[in-house]
Amino acid sequence: MKKLVIGCDHAAVEMKNTVREHLISRGFEVEDVGTYTTDSCNYPVFAHRACLKVQNGEADMGILICGTGIGMSLVANKHRGIRAACCSDTFSARLTRQHNDANVLCFGARVVGIGLALDLVDNFVDANYEGGKHAARVDMITAVENGTFTE
Ligand code: RB5
Repeated sequence: MKKLVIGCDHAAVEMKNTVREHLISRGFEVEDVGTYTTDSCNYPVFAHRACLKVQNGEADMGILICGTGIGMSLVANKHRGIRAACCSDTFSARLTRQHNDANVLCFGARVVGIGLALDLVDNFVDANYEGGKHAARVDMITAVENGTFTE
């Protein structure tokens, strides 16, 4: 079973708690790296904590929720090996696993309702990377990250 890490900022605590419990009820092991209260905080802190766990293999995938999902995705994508997708539709949440081998899903608690949030998460965690023709493109992302990309 996949191990997941979840994080949020103050804008998304309630949604994060509901998503975490949903994933646990589905049998996933979920590590919650905070935030844990609605006190104002800084989303990069929690994106960074979660991405470190994906990078070091403690988690297979991450879920990051802030007001829009955008701040979390910007921070997450600064981490080597992290491919974070900010999604508000289930098609993208599924396809970013299948085609982009995304390992972090971001979304906004001020953008999507809890029903859609749970569907986004389910589509993401249930989809598998297809490899094949997509592998060369994902390799190019890595090359850009490493500064070795050439056309
Ligand atoms: C916090 O007010 C808000 O800026 C944050 O949750 C997020 O939307 C940033 O991208």
